[in-house]
Amino acid sequence: MRSRVLELLKKYQPDFVSGETIARELSVSRTAVWKAIHYWQDKDYLIESSPRLGYRLLQAPGWLYPVEMEGKLQSKLIGMPVEKMHHFLSLESTNETLKQLAEKGASEGTVVLAEEQTRGKGRLGRSWSSPRGKGIWLSVLLKPAVFPQEVPVFTLLAALAVSRAIRMNHPELKAGIKWPNDILVHEKKACGILTELKAETDRIHYLVAGIGLNADQEEEDFPPDLAPSATSIYLESGKKADRLQLAADMINQLDHAYHQFCSQGARPIIKAWKEHSITLGRKVTISHPAGDYPGKAVDISADGALVVEKEDGTRKHFHAGEVTLRR
Ligand code: BTN
Repeated sequence: MRSRVLELLKKYQPDFVSGETIARELSVSRTAVWKAIHYWQDKDYLIESSPRLGYRLLQAPGWLYPVEMEGKLQSKLIGMPVEKMHHFLSLESTNETLKQLAEKGASEGTVVLAEEQTRGKGRLGRSWSSPRGKGIWLSVLLKPAVFPQEVPVFTLLAALAVSRAIRMNHPELKAGIKWPNDILVHEKKACGILTELKAETDRIHYLVAGIGLNADQEEEDFPPDLAPSATSIYLESGKKADRLQLAADMINQLDHAYHQFCSQGARPIIKAWKEHSITLGRKVTISHPAGDYPGKAVDISADGALVVEKEDGTRKHFHAGEVTLRR
């Protein structure tokens, strides 16, 4: 009901809409409308109220409130019903908060979203810069019935979903995936994914897929060491991102790909991933604990490994490692 009141305010924006009209359109009492208006005012929505004209929305805070996202969601499991989405203005790391919820029995599809992370985590023990309101920092809880060895495919699945969401909103940006799950725009990193797992040898307890999408950062918002290699949707498109739509599309696409995996297995995910890849066909160097491995990225195996071919034609499968794209 509250979100439908907000939708009506947005529909009539910049005009007033009377309390009576809202009450009639939503079949609720005038008191219920008044309470909903107060709810949104408490959440930093600037709503003018006039005894003669009714209400008008002057400004929305622009946060990723789940109730605002609800109307854009088509997912069946992830973030649905919307009470499964937990929004924070600030926290240390959405992955950490979601793992705590998982330990307390949170159900599959639970989502944690934050406007700011004070200890955002990247891959390989790195930190992840997550300034307030500038990106989409979210984590999703999944409990797939697969062996732990199959988890790398979920990393590809998450990257595919985000790449699709970016391409839907910004077809001009030609976003693509660098194996396994960095999303690059014009050769710079716009999104990273950190998948964490709680499992035994033959059973997954849960998997947390943490996604960090740089949406509205300007150059000075990045730490100096990242500035040359990182980018944001805003920096590449010149337009502020619609974070609500992007976040909703990321969730919708994750939900779609996850259901596809559950019903048809990894094959369609890998096939689609290849269409979004900017790694395949490129000269690469894989940083590996055993030393750097140069070659050409030629394929992705059925279990999500990157297949790299040396000049002498020998091929090696990499299940982990950091890829550098070479010219
Ligand atoms: C990488 O190093 O490329 C992975 C970055 C993952 C960042 C996201 S932001 C949301 C979630 N919470 C975290 O602490 N990390 C992930």
